[in-house]
Amino acid sequence: MQDSEPPTTATAAPPEPLLRVEGLCKYFPVYRKGLVRRKVGEVRAVDDVNFAIRPGETIGLVGESGCGKTTLVRTILRALDPTGGRAWFASSRGPVDLAAADAPALKRLRTEIQMIFQDPFSSLNPRMTVGDIVGEPLLIHRVGTRAERKDRVADMLRKVGLKPEHMHRYPHAFSGGQRQRIGIARALVLHPSLVVADEAVSALDVSVQAQVINLLEDLQEELGLTTIFVAHDLSVVRHIADRVAVMYAGRLVELAPTDELFENPRHPYTRALLSAVPSPDPDRRLAFALSGEVADPARLPGGCSFHPRCPRRFEPCDSVCPALVQDGPAHVACHLYTERDAPSTPEGPSHRGEPRMDPTSRSRFVGQAANAHE
Ligand SMILES: Nc1ncnc2c1ncn2[C@@H]1O[C@H](COP(=O)(O)OP(=O)(O)OP(=O)(O)O)[C@@H](O)[C@H]1O
Ligand SMILES: [Mg+2]
Repeated sequence: MQDSEPPTTATAAPPEPLLRVEGLCKYFPVYRKGLVRRKVGEVRAVDDVNFAIRPGETIGLVGESGCGKTTLVRTILRALDPTGGRAWFASSRGPVDLAAADAPALKRLRTEIQMIFQDPFSSLNPRMTVGDIVGEPLLIHRVGTRAERKDRVADMLRKVGLKPEHMHRYPHAFSGGQRQRIGIARALVLHPSLVVADEAVSALDVSVQAQVINLLEDLQEELGLTTIFVAHDLSVVRHIADRVAVMYAGRLVELAPTDELFENPRHPYTRALLSAVPSPDPDRRLAFALSGEVADPARLPGGCSFHPRCPRRFEPCDSVCPALVQDGPAHVACHLYTERDAPSTPEGPSHRGEPRMDPTSRSRFVGQAANAHE
């Protein structure tokens, strides 16, 4: 994909997005139990999501459990059929709407879009050797001869920090971190342009997490990957992402360059999420914590879904759903940024003294534990 990009000059337009998601929705029907199955409602797991990713970019996707992160990426990848909307992917054969693509087209696109799974224990077939696991996508897509496939698997194992001779072993002989490396090798062996990692390091110990994060970063650079990185851990997202998308109750509420989001969060929900990150400074701890339950996507409140928990709600919030609008380098869906008579914005006096994240260096990731090491 990257090879076919035209050369860019200082005056050239920014590159076309690799993926552009437009109004994507995924609603799950809720049926009444009983003899007659009748639809009585729907779970709005993903609701009117819009964003685009440039080639080579990493977008971090964050939000509380149940806000729709997995459903969003699974709908983009068509593991789930969307209820509505589009997902334009700039494939090597031209733009394709993933939301409308048929099964043969989706199969062809699997060489260009791959997923790294959360659980390195259940996602690898225990009865297959590492060589067969990593080489299977090459076999399915009929890439190269048997000898070429073997070479490519050996090369991929080296790239993820394993040895070619590991090819003959079975997954149970490896630790959690090594298994995740096998999963990464399998995802990248076809040289995809878009990679989706859903909680790819959440199941690992902190020090192993750091190794896998650093490996992912090296591979992103080496292979020119574009990545959607779903994670609970904001310190991981801060380290790896170029931009961060914050989801609440199925919708994107903020999308901003990473440093901007952490230093100048706009949406009250983003501010609450960031202030809930453990900080060594007691003055910064939980100064603006989240209260109340996360919204139930089967029974969303009217207006902005966050309004029942929002400390800054005002008149339109319980009746009008805010659109995602641009504010400086960020996009935010909050009436504080659209209504003329909104109370003072987060930059105003009412927010002084609230916690801001410390800017940290974007060097090697060491996780949150002091003893985490490479
Ligand atoms: N197949 C399904 N049928 C009905 N509801 C579903 C289904 N899959 C997910 N949901 C609901 O959609 C909402 C979003 O779930 P999802 O798994 O996408 O959240 P998430 O942000 O990935 O959470 P986590 O951080 O825990 O992984 C939840 O309320 C969930 O219960
Ligand atoms: Mg999830």
